[in-house]
Amino acid sequence: MYKNIKTAVVGSINMDMILTADRIPDVGENLLGNTYSYANGGKGANQATALTRLGAEVKMIGKVGNDVNGKKLIENLEANNIDASGVSEEGSETGLAAILIDKDGRNRIIVYEGANGEINAGEAINSIDDDTQLLLIQFETSEDVVTAVVNHAVSRNITTVIDCGPAKEFNLEKMQGATIISPNESETKALTGILPDNEETILEASKILKERSKAQFVVLKLGERGCSVFDGEKLTILPPYKTEVVDTTAAGDCFTAAMALEYVRTGDIYKACDMGNKAGAIAVSRMGAADSMPTISELY
Ligand code: RIB
Repeated sequence: MYKNIKTAVVGSINMDMILTADRIPDVGENLLGNTYSYANGGKGANQATALTRLGAEVKMIGKVGNDVNGKKLIENLEANNIDASGVSEEGSETGLAAILIDKDGRNRIIVYEGANGEINAGEAINSIDDDTQLLLIQFETSEDVVTAVVNHAVSRNITTVIDCGPAKEFNLEKMQGATIISPNESETKALTGILPDNEETILEASKILKERSKAQFVVLKLGERGCSVFDGEKLTILPPYKTEVVDTTAAGDCFTAAMALEYVRTGDIYKACDMGNKAGAIAVSRMGAADSMPTISELY
């Protein structure tokens, strides 16, 4: 289905340290947790894993540290059939994310960027193969890198999808004309000052994002309300798939990857967003980030 689609992901690669507890501790509180584990993560690597599990050809472009975690994460990419030739080892430590999850599957994450902060725009662009059809990028690398890579990909007519996580202000005016720009609710608030919590605010925020980025489509990830698509004229809200929520970590990464692939396959943004909703619902029903991504047989 997505077999011959050639994709590249520029982004972060982290070791995730996951602690579960009944609730998130208050300031100054010391709380006993229930479980802990280490897992493969980083928004870039999670999206690369989702793409490969859905059957696409994937090249990962990023940096890890010259340490045990870096080696493990590269091994994991390769074990998932991802071309890791665009990943190099740097002097700083591999990125690390400390993730707290409560009994309702909601998380709080602190990320130490480490080697991810050393991704360099020129190197990243040189690693993008000429026959790449789809490029995914997130905001977990520096603004300069994201801007340069998006402008390069757009100039090469590569379908370019920007996932705006984690939440931060960003000079969208400097990277114009991507195919899809896709923030979640808190990322939308950080970029526009508007929390998209009803149809009016969803439209208002989408119009601002469209105007500032000149992206073809603005797709807002709205959590338990599904997602929205704005094409410059019409706003459409697509309902979510019902699921049992175990861990919401990386659900957005999964949504972005599945939506992007289906868009390349069909050219239909509504089918694409429905596929993103379906894949995201599977990801939240499982613990972990990269490891919670569905396979193609679970979607079709
Ligand atoms: O989007 C989820 C990811 O955010 C986690 O895997 C963690 O590494 C952070 O980067």
